[in-house]
Amino acid sequence: MGKYIRIAPSILSADFANLGAAIKMAEAAGADAIHVDVMDGHFVPNMTIGPPVVAALRKVTQLPLDVHLMVETPERYVEAFVRAGADILTVHPEATAHLHQVLGQIHDLGVQAGVSLNPATPESELRYVVDIVDLVLVMTVNPGFGGQDFLPEMLSKIAAVRSILDTADRAAWLSVDGGINVKTAPLVTAYGADHLVAGSAIFAAPEGVAAAISALRGVV
Ligand code: DX5
Ligand code: ZN
Repeated sequence: MGKYIRIAPSILSADFANLGAAIKMAEAAGADAIHVDVMDGHFVPNMTIGPPVVAALRKVTQLPLDVHLMVETPERYVEAFVRAGADILTVHPEATAHLHQVLGQIHDLGVQAGVSLNPATPESELRYVVDIVDLVLVMTVNPGFGGQDFLPEMLSKIAAVRSILDTADRAAWLSVDGGINVKTAPLVTAYGADHLVAGSAIFAAPEGVAAAISALRGVV
């Protein structure tokens, strides 16, 4: 039996007027976490949601809230998101001058800390923080929008991150985000990913959320 692969539906592609219902559907269908994309209109050219929405989501699900901060200077917002109920906070090294410090700040607040790498950011960014990360998120599209095409050149980065984590003997999750669907999921898991974020493949699936989650499970 292979290792367990977590599926984290991204609510970015859900109906924002009915987020509670979307999350309940995903939870009932066996999702392992809910991926929440926070965008500030600076780090990425789009805006989404902030801590009050995370606090509202916290009331409707027991699942871990996997909060992906696509914001400049995330250190300013970490505490607010932890108070709101985030379980995992993932930051981008490109967005802060103090990556090591913000990862420590996240841990001090009692939640898990992740690092997300944009497509052009090398895996070497992990070198001095690998011992303090609980999750590494390899962006497989440029961040900002759902529904983009998977970048196949990211497969070698996934393999490189897998090897860094294994060498460091670090049991961190290796997450992938962007263009994950039934075609790309078997590829990324073969290269070592074990936490799959999927937005449009789940919430925009014509066959419905439950069928889309079981289809993803079926291919990994
Ligand atoms: C993109 C976000 C993703 C997004 C993925 O910047 O980080 O989480 O929801 O959407 P899909 O799965 O549609 O590529
Ligand atoms: Zn994301």
